[in-house]
Amino acid sequence: MVKSTSSTGGSSSKLASPTPEDEEKLREAAKAEITYPDKMDHKEIVLRSSSESATGQERKDEWAFNFDRVFEPNSTQSEVFEEISQLAQSCTDGYNVCVFAYGQTGSGKSFTMEGGSTESNAGMIPRAVEQVFRVSDELKSKGWIYKMEGQFLEIYNETINDLLGKGEFDKKKHEIKHDKSGRTTVTDVNIIPLTSANQVRSLLALAQSRRTVASTLMNERSSRSHSVFTLRILGENAMTGESCEGSLNLVDLAGSERLEKSGAGNDKDRLKETQSINKSLSALGDVIAALGEKGEGKGDKHIPYRNSKLTYLLQNSLSGNSKTLMVLNLSPLAYHLNESLCSLRFATKVNNTTIGTAKKQIKNPS
Ligand SMILES: Nc1ncnc2c1ncn2[C@@H]1O[C@H](COP(=O)(O)OP(=O)(O)OP(=O)(O)O)[C@@H](O)[C@H]1O
Ligand SMILES: [Mg+2]
Repeated sequence: MVKSTSSTGGSSSKLASPTPEDEEKLREAAKAEITYPDKMDHKEIVLRSSSESATGQERKDEWAFNFDRVFEPNSTQSEVFEEISQLAQSCTDGYNVCVFAYGQTGSGKSFTMEGGSTESNAGMIPRAVEQVFRVSDELKSKGWIYKMEGQFLEIYNETINDLLGKGEFDKKKHEIKHDKSGRTTVTDVNIIPLTSANQVRSLLALAQSRRTVASTLMNERSSRSHSVFTLRILGENAMTGESCEGSLNLVDLAGSERLEKSGAGNDKDRLKETQSINKSLSALGDVIAALGEKGEGKGDKHIPYRNSKLTYLLQNSLSGNSKTLMVLNLSPLAYHLNESLCSLRFATKVNNTTIGTAKKQIKNPS
């Protein structure tokens, strides 16, 4: 699934003959030529560029990509949510679900996941949680009683921080543990019992304020870290004696841009950040690819979950009994065309992977 945002913020020059700086600004603000030829199924996106070669000849390039669903810049949050709602809901049936937002800095990942402050701008996290509450309420008539809890973590430079922690910036050391039943826990993090969907808004606000504390310590940190919101849901059916356990992980990945543009080259801290991001994003791609190969019947293939904190944390939500979806956010700017192509190629690799058939985690009474 691809979402391209409309946030460009155009700029124009007031001078009759623009200075080289103005020209540079105009070039940076120019929109890329992006078209959406498939008006029926909305599955295709085409990028075009024209440039002049050293010999003065015009060179035109075109790249077409296909995905399950492509959203145009004027798509609404509610349209995007429609596409993921079924998947998000399946955590109430005992599935482990993962939704990732991937894209370069400023492309709209956080806007997609958390959204703005108005009802119509609400992102995937509040919408998904609201839906899970609504569905679990409906299932009460069938004897199901659900307990829900939320956790919100940040992975920065391969270190886990609790975004719902108390007090000052998180100094605790957190470890990821997987138990035999397929449950993942992280030591010493706050797990908040959720009793209503509205509560999630205050959790998002709390996480946001803690991120702000961190970003005064380290420049623009939220762009440089992954954040993982996890809703764990436990259901018991008093009528049938069945029980189920599922989770919904909504992941806002760190900016995927490559080293040159972020200006990290001369800055040691920035370089370290970029290297951790590159490492974990490629680890994510490798894990998904390895899972796909396993799905093709290669048996006990080694899946390199341990290559990054992100993949290790999500191990149980990426393997066989899980459902995974990636939202790719693209910049509309011509200046970002190369970065957009990199993102589209990464997403194509992910999209061509069939992870295997998801299994529900329902326990029958023994
Ligand atoms: N579809 C949209 N409609 C309106 N505004 C948007 C949309 N998408 C993004 N924006 C705005 O564009 C800006 C950048 O978006 P956002 O912060 O979500 O990017 P990001 O991918 O999370 O960047 P970073 O990697 O730096 O965290 C924000 O001000 C956001 O509100
Ligand atoms: Mg962001």
